[in-house]
Amino acid sequence: MEKTMGSAALTKPSVQLPRVVLSVWLLLVCCSLTAFGMESHIVYLGRRHESIHPDVVVASHHNMLASVLGSTAAAKDALLYSYKHGFNGFAARLSSAHISAVSQIPGVISVFPNKRNNLLTTRSWEFLGLEKANENKVFESSLWKKSNFGRDIIIGSLDTGVWPESESYSDDLIGTIPRRWKGSCIPGTAFNATNCNRKLIGARYYIKGYEAENHHLNLTALGDFLSPRDSSGHGTHTSSTAAGSFVQGANLFGLGNGTAKGGAPLSRIAVYKVCWPRDSKGGECYDSDILAAIDQGIHDGVDVFTLSLGSSPPLPEFFEDGIAIGAFHAVQKGIVVVCAGGNDGPTPATVANTSPWIITVAASSIDRIFASSVVLGNNKTYVGQSLSEHRLKNKIYDLVLSEDVGAATANKTSSKLCFSDSLDPKKVKGKIIVCQRGITPRAAKGNVVKLAGGSGMVLYNAPSQGDEIFPDAHLLPATHVNAKDGSDIVAYVKSKSKPVAYISPVTTVKGSKPAPVMASFSSQGPNSLTPDLLKPDITAPGLDILAAYSEVSSPTGLPADNRVVHFNVESGTSMACPHVAGIAALLKAHHPDWSPAAIKSALMTTGTHLDNRRKEILNGSFQTAGPFNYGAGHIDPNKATDPGLVYDATTEDYDYFLCALKYNQSSYKSITGREVHCPKSASSISNMNYPSITVSNLVGTQTIKRTVTNVGAGNTTYNVSIKMPRGISVSVHPPQMHFLFKGESKSFVVKLQASRTASGRYTFGHITWRDGRHTVRSPIVVRPISTGSR
Ligand SMILES: *[C@@H]1O[C@H](CO)[C@@H](O)[C@H](O)[C@H]1NC(C)=O
Ligand SMILES: *[C@@H]1O[C@H](CO)[C@@H](O)[C@H](O)[C@H]1NC(C)=O
Ligand SMILES: *[C@@H]1O[C@H](CO)[C@@H](O)[C@H](O)[C@H]1NC(C)=O
Ligand SMILES: *[C@@H]1O[C@H](CO)[C@@H](O)[C@H](O)[C@H]1NC(C)=O
Ligand SMILES: *[C@@H]1O[C@H](CO)[C@@H](O)[C@H](O)[C@H]1NC(C)=O
Ligand SMILES: *[C@@H]1O[C@H](CO)[C@@H](O)[C@H](O)[C@H]1NC(C)=O
Ligand SMILES: *[C@@H]1O[C@H](CO)[C@@H](O)[C@H](O)[C@H]1NC(C)=O
Ligand SMILES: *[C@@H]1O[C@H](CO)[C@@H](O)[C@H](O)[C@H]1NC(C)=O
Repeated sequence: MEKTMGSAALTKPSVQLPRVVLSVWLLLVCCSLTAFGMESHIVYLGRRHESIHPDVVVASHHNMLASVLGSTAAAKDALLYSYKHGFNGFAARLSSAHISAVSQIPGVISVFPNKRNNLLTTRSWEFLGLEKANENKVFESSLWKKSNFGRDIIIGSLDTGVWPESESYSDDLIGTIPRRWKGSCIPGTAFNATNCNRKLIGARYYIKGYEAENHHLNLTALGDFLSPRDSSGHGTHTSSTAAGSFVQGANLFGLGNGTAKGGAPLSRIAVYKVCWPRDSKGGECYDSDILAAIDQGIHDGVDVFTLSLGSSPPLPEFFEDGIAIGAFHAVQKGIVVVCAGGNDGPTPATVANTSPWIITVAASSIDRIFASSVVLGNNKTYVGQSLSEHRLKNKIYDLVLSEDVGAATANKTSSKLCFSDSLDPKKVKGKIIVCQRGITPRAAKGNVVKLAGGSGMVLYNAPSQGDEIFPDAHLLPATHVNAKDGSDIVAYVKSKSKPVAYISPVTTVKGSKPAPVMASFSSQGPNSLTPDLLKPDITAPGLDILAAYSEVSSPTGLPADNRVVHFNVESGTSMACPHVAGIAALLKAHHPDWSPAAIKSALMTTGTHLDNRRKEILNGSFQTAGPFNYGAGHIDPNKATDPGLVYDATTEDYDYFLCALKYNQSSYKSITGREVHCPKSASSISNMNYPSITVSNLVGTQTIKRTVTNVGAGNTTYNVSIKMPRGISVSVHPPQMHFLFKGESKSFVVKLQASRTASGRYTFGHITWRDGRHTVRSPIVVRPISTGSR
């Protein structure tokens, strides 16, 4: 209810509402917000006019607030931020009465709540992981050479800050700071300007929006720093994945040893800390802080923003979504914005950050595993995954099921899942314990076994958890096996009077197949806000990624774990997002004239739907995945540098998209900050010039228009080929296009026709343009419905 109300009532109406309606609205407000509370809100004033000096803009914010709050002093007190560079607006603590008063002021486009976003790593929960970014073939591409490793491109990371002492921020190979850079290094707790260098060129922090919502926080008690310094490790991991310098001999406990480097190793990093701890685990990031960082980053000179954060569905409308609004203004200035798609999979329609101007990233595996096997007394061997640094001393141990060695006080389920205090130390001592995965973090179960005196742990998937296994930095010798192996091992224990086993030390195995495989946690389409726009856009490595880490955070995040690591392995769409940001930086260095939409198009149309067996990419249950999992496919940076054709988009295309949403003028303004002129004939989202084609409700026949621009050499002819979605007939006109010049644009139409019996289910295909050198592929996603069921 709060959400509907927010979007319905907190946007400034362009006509005065009748009094009766207004009072009903106030009543609703009074009952849904904390009584008489001052809630922080964002007051959005639209585009900033270049001619007005930022100081004048700030003064206007003070005046506006003072007129509502009654005094300049009160206005100063309530104001959290003035947004004055990329766009115009402010954040302030306001009561519901103030909100309605502010909404009435001419020039106020919208007032919306300071929404909370979360970090999109899986750490501390199901996906306590450890991983590495080096030796990944994604990075060993000639695009590195062509782009000069992304030299002088500036990547802005909105996250938990940075551990500046990490070798990933070494500036040894890096030249002087680009002269256009206007950012700075803001000091604070355990952080000063000397922590920045030619690699880490900017560091700022934004906490007012978080503080406004968390009155009694104590950063010291939560282990964080009131400065750009990273306590959680998340921001260090993501920014070093995007643009970390070369670090030789990077590893976790000797595993995954190699040269660590980010996607764009010679790019510069600017850190904007916007996420703060809620408790010792999660991080949260508020819209008002995010908007302040984007506004400043646009001014500072950032080229690519990477945001490994977002919210879970139900998603806010674009005009009440700080990330969408901030990103819109950044993209208008030619800045690429890359966001994680979320970790709410495999539930359908969970993908977040779905606006068309953002690049939305899903997560998938790479071809490296951290293997550790279970060898049973009958010599059968099951390969699991682990990042444990601990080795068993002997070659043979008694093997028992945790539910058979439960504590007297514990019920069977809790001992089966190895919850705290659920095991009987007398029965556990010196043995390898078999625990089922679920509910508590995987590494926490290992710690329970360790505390009870166990020598090792075999963690197995329940049948519903399938084949997906994770390497964790367990605190004892332990490995994680899939559901089938787990049931074999359980059957072995049950069938023997004296079952025994051994767990082999972890080895790093490269070239494993199949890869990539989609991560089951990766949020899926369809797009819950605008089903006619496919999201996610692309998938990138997000499982078991090794990158730099904070030295005040342990590899498992468990209270019992006080190990310090310089590199850590983590999983999440949080880890996939900076891979794409790094590659976008390389593209930007190589093609400075490409728009953010052209860069996105190049990434998407060259993405692959095939894995390293040349078969369809699989999902987390090892069944065929599709565009709702990976969008256009898995990222291929080498091909992206020379895509042949791009589906470009200008401001008008985004306006057209907004018109198709059939928002009213005040809602358009809340996104674009200006009037939007909609075409007379109704536009459709499907017709936005996007590199994928989606029709969520196909009745009979629909014709889709697209325009491509040749970014390859001139005098080239492209032919189309079509993989038709089941039950849909697709034709493309013209089927052949000749381009005389580089930069030439041509349009074509795609006619989709449903067969008589509409299934009501989504079906997938693609169209591909080829000229003998380039392959330009776009997924087609269609749901045919019969007229009656509309
Ligand atoms: C515009 O749409 C918003 C959001 O749906 C709504 O709150 C507002 O009242 C509308 N304004 C007008 C003039 O209809
Ligand atoms: C800045 O921090 C560094 C290292 O943490 C320290 O050595 C130096 O004295 C500090 N400088 C100032 C001016 O505080
Ligand atoms: C914050 O926590 C620290 C450590 O627990 C404590 O020493 C300090 O007094 C607390 N500060 C406040 C203002 O509560
Ligand atoms: C990592 O590899 C480097 C270079 O091959 C080697 O010198 C180093 O000893 C290795 N480190 C570990 C911990 O294996
Ligand atoms: C298991 O393998 C070892 C060494 O290869 C052998 O000595 C032993 O007899 C085998 N045990 C069984 C039960 O097959
Ligand atoms: C994989 O795809 C199959 C078939 O569509 C589906 O039943 C299963 O839930 C999917 N698994 C995941 C983890 O997405
Ligand atoms: C274009 O290419 C065709 C065939 O490759 C060639 O015959 C023709 O001369 C070329 N035209 C120009 C203007 O280069
Ligand atoms: C495109 O089609 C034409 C005629 O159908 C054919 O001659 C040509 O080789 C094709 N080009 C490519 C790149 O497949």
